[in-house]
Amino acid sequence: MKTLPQTPSDDSYRESMGRLLVLYTQVDRLIMEICAERIASAPDLAAKLALAKQVGDESRHVMIQHNWMQQFGTDTTPVISDVQEESIRNHFQKLTWLEFLADMYLCVEALGSEAVENIVPLADPGTRESLHVPLSDEQDHVAFGINRLKEELAQLPAGEREAFLEGIPRRIEALTDMFLDFGLEVAELFEKVGASYTMLCDAVRQRQDEVLQQVAA
Ligand SMILES: [Fe+2]
Ligand SMILES: [Fe+2]
Repeated sequence: MKTLPQTPSDDSYRESMGRLLVLYTQVDRLIMEICAERIASAPDLAAKLALAKQVGDESRHVMIQHNWMQQFGTDTTPVISDVQEESIRNHFQKLTWLEFLADMYLCVEALGSEAVENIVPLADPGTRESLHVPLSDEQDHVAFGINRLKEELAQLPAGEREAFLEGIPRRIEALTDMFLDFGLEVAELFEKVGASYTMLCDAVRQRQDEVLQQVAA
């Protein structure tokens, strides 16, 4: 049971927060690369421009986090292995544009940043500051994804739209399972920085309900 807000002088906190920072930065870099690859095949100019902006945003996040990890004295050994990175990349490469919107924006961006946002109040001031710009940009990315997905779904025949909407929770579950199968011990890391993993999962589930409602509205 965690009692106190952790401080950066607490070795266990520092190490675990360091691992989470490495993980977040790795995911941001992967998103940057995956979105860059999508630009050429994106269906129209608005989509290309949004993806290109996101690539720029993610590159800024990677740089901010790298600088902060250096100051924080974080061990920057990757959390996700090369093979695991490759499986994430492969997953996204195979998706249709609609599937890409669901997996990238509803799952990775919305639910991923929900998890990070839940850590912010527990973090030391430097880490909190380093997350400020990235998390505000992630909101933009989520907004693009939700709006674009709504627009795309509105073009579909009603039955197809319904079927796609109904399938989204399964898509999110599959991606989450893939991530959990990596065996990264994220539950332990979250607990060691003072978060309740159960409460964090509840918050993520609640966010999932919210984004699904927004897309279906
Ligand atoms: Fe980011
Ligand atoms: Fe993002």
